[in-house]
Amino acid sequence: MLRSWLCVALAFSSSWPSKLIVAFATQNCTADDWGDKYWEWELERSQEHEWYGQNWETLVKHIPDISLAPPSRILHVGCGTSPWVSSMASQGINVTHIDISPALVSKLRQRFPSLDIQVADVTSLQFESDVFDVVVEKGTLDAVFLAGLALAEVAVKELFRVLHPGGSLVSVTGYAGPNQEGPFLGAVAWSSQTFLPLPTSSTADAYLCTK
Ligand SMILES: C[S@@+](CC[C@H](N)C(=O)[O-])C[C@H]1O[C@@H](n2cnc3c(N)ncnc32)[C@H](O)[C@@H]1O
Repeated sequence: MLRSWLCVALAFSSSWPSKLIVAFATQNCTADDWGDKYWEWELERSQEHEWYGQNWETLVKHIPDISLAPPSRILHVGCGTSPWVSSMASQGINVTHIDISPALVSKLRQRFPSLDIQVADVTSLQFESDVFDVVVEKGTLDAVFLAGLALAEVAVKELFRVLHPGGSLVSVTGYAGPNQEGPFLGAVAWSSQTFLPLPTSSTADAYLCTK
């Protein structure tokens, strides 16, 4: 119960999307927050949702110096039902999408049978080290952060581990900025960390972190 109130408080204090507030109220913020229980509830209501309202095609034009075209290998973490999945497919990007919910992943695989979509937990990734050129995430580290800064830092360490040296993390987050309550991007020694102005106004910020 305490965690439930904490999550709702964080949600309101940081302008977290109202959808999550409704979901938390419905789900009572258990350890299954982002598991099948949430996604079965959500998928009954909509097939697509873009958290923080950031369209992939527009965002990507604002990211300097990262190569997304094959043979670059991209990891999309906590894909949810974001239209980023179909946008990346239409650009021919070589991407592995992951999410923690088996129910969601099963639905996405039915919808996109030719895409690489896997069940995985960002705090404990099954991938080898140094294998991805670019990792992208929107709102996933924030979701993990709601369970605690320490867990979000574990997730950032995992993303750092699976990136090639010189590879990049693009993070769209409402909590990770230097003056925000979740400075989890600082959990590892990035060689550089750049603030990316977001093309579409949002409660979130974007960062480009290079390993
Ligand atoms: C705020 S939603 C963002 C979804 C999507 N990235 C978007 O922008 O529309 C957070 C996503 O992270 C996923 N998620 C939460 N915890 C996770 C974890 N430990 N590992 C992988 N994915 C997780 C949730 O299932 C959900 O899809």
